[in-house]
Amino acid sequence: MPDTLTITDNRTGKKYEIPIEHDTVKAMDLRQIKVHEDDFGMMAYDPAYMNTASVKSNITFIDGDKGILRYRGYPIEQLAEHCTSFLEVAYLLLHGELPDRPHLEDWRYNIKMHTFVHENIKKLMEGFRYDAHPMGMFISTISALSTFYPEAKDIMNPDVRRKQMYRLIGKVPTIAAFTYRHSKGMPYIYPDNELTYAGNFLNMMFKIGQSYKPHPVLEHALTVLFILHADHEQNCSTNTMRSIGSSHIDPYSACAGAAAALWGPLHGGANEAVLRMLDEIGSKNNVSAIIKDVKEGKRKLMGFGHRIYKNYDPRAKVIKQLAYEVFEVTGTNPKLDLALELERIALEDDYFVKRKLYPNVDFYSGLIYEAMGFPMDFFPVLFAIPRTAGWLSHWQEHLLDPEQKIARPRQIYLGAGERNWIAINKRS
Ligand code: CMC
Repeated sequence: MPDTLTITDNRTGKKYEIPIEHDTVKAMDLRQIKVHEDDFGMMAYDPAYMNTASVKSNITFIDGDKGILRYRGYPIEQLAEHCTSFLEVAYLLLHGELPDRPHLEDWRYNIKMHTFVHENIKKLMEGFRYDAHPMGMFISTISALSTFYPEAKDIMNPDVRRKQMYRLIGKVPTIAAFTYRHSKGMPYIYPDNELTYAGNFLNMMFKIGQSYKPHPVLEHALTVLFILHADHEQNCSTNTMRSIGSSHIDPYSACAGAAAALWGPLHGGANEAVLRMLDEIGSKNNVSAIIKDVKEGKRKLMGFGHRIYKNYDPRAKVIKQLAYEVFEVTGTNPKLDLALELERIALEDDYFVKRKLYPNVDFYSGLIYEAMGFPMDFFPVLFAIPRTAGWLSHWQEHLLDPEQKIARPRQIYLGAGERNWIAINKRS
């Protein structure tokens, strides 16, 4: 059987044979379909990229129907269970293979050499109001890094690219922690490079005086959360990273754009929205009223549903289990019972069953973050820290892909035809 698709254009009766590769046809192959020789040719219309592959990628695999997520072929459950450091997974995403000991040490060393930020970054952050949203501060500060490292725009130079990766992965926890300390009016804590990636971050967040030591269970939980959030193929923010990067701007500017996309409540801002929703529901007695509103289309159940997963999000499974380990240390989050009840009712309800709406990664993560002492508006920042490694992997893959060019979709123009300018006093 030939790997082709035959299309008959009923407007002209002409037949076209289009090659199929990877169960996909090339949208550009449709361009030959024309009614007249001077027609532009046929395009594919796909708002929100519901059925369009815009890249070929080797980084992350998801089977949404089966609830499978793999980084570079490794199941997420195995990485979450066995990797003892987030940097091991960041290396895997960026290099395609798990590091052996010398490579991991070298990688760690290089990242650790770039955890400090220029003192002027602190001054820049002091300019934010006391109540500035941490994600707004985070995005702006990441963007400002491009002014500190102007050489970063030499994006086709592999050494320059590598250096910016060290810097970005090294500095995002520092910047994130500084946004928190700023909002609390507390002195910034500088990185401690003797600690792990997650441990150093907790230290910069919560250290007061000399006595603070990150609790090993919480440090481990944060490492797992970082691993689970490190990449998720072509989601809104990664697509933004690729799209901005395709203009050949520096990675700081592209990362700031990706982080902005992540902040939205339909994407990484959902973890904050879930907790606000649980606060609003207040008690189990109000769960059915919320479900009713959701079914009537008045609101969404935050932390539920996914474009790709039509099954339980594998990350949510790991997080749900992790929550119990964290609560052993922190004491339980009273909202857990409410979340479990909401999940129980939703998963039995025909509305959710029919639409295959399951809890996603954001449904339980906020409960852990809150129990660990992170404020609600800080949750999207916690998502952005590990996702930076994923964004950078996709940014590099995109730049090196000979099939890619500047991202530039087409449109179907439905506005007015040509008309003549009218003087202001003659306009109705
Ligand atoms: N609550 C109630 N109904 C929902 C929900 C929800 N959370 N999500 C989807 N639906 C309904 C939707 O109304 C539609 O119903 P109908 O067919 O009657 O019009 C159907 O399910 C299909 O939904 P969709 O909007 O076409 O799905 P999508 O792929 O465009 O949206 C989504 C995916 C994640 C944006 C959406 O499910 C959503 O808004 N969920 C809540 C926000 C959230 O938790 N986001 C985090 C996503 S996971 C982490 C991440 O990506 O950062």
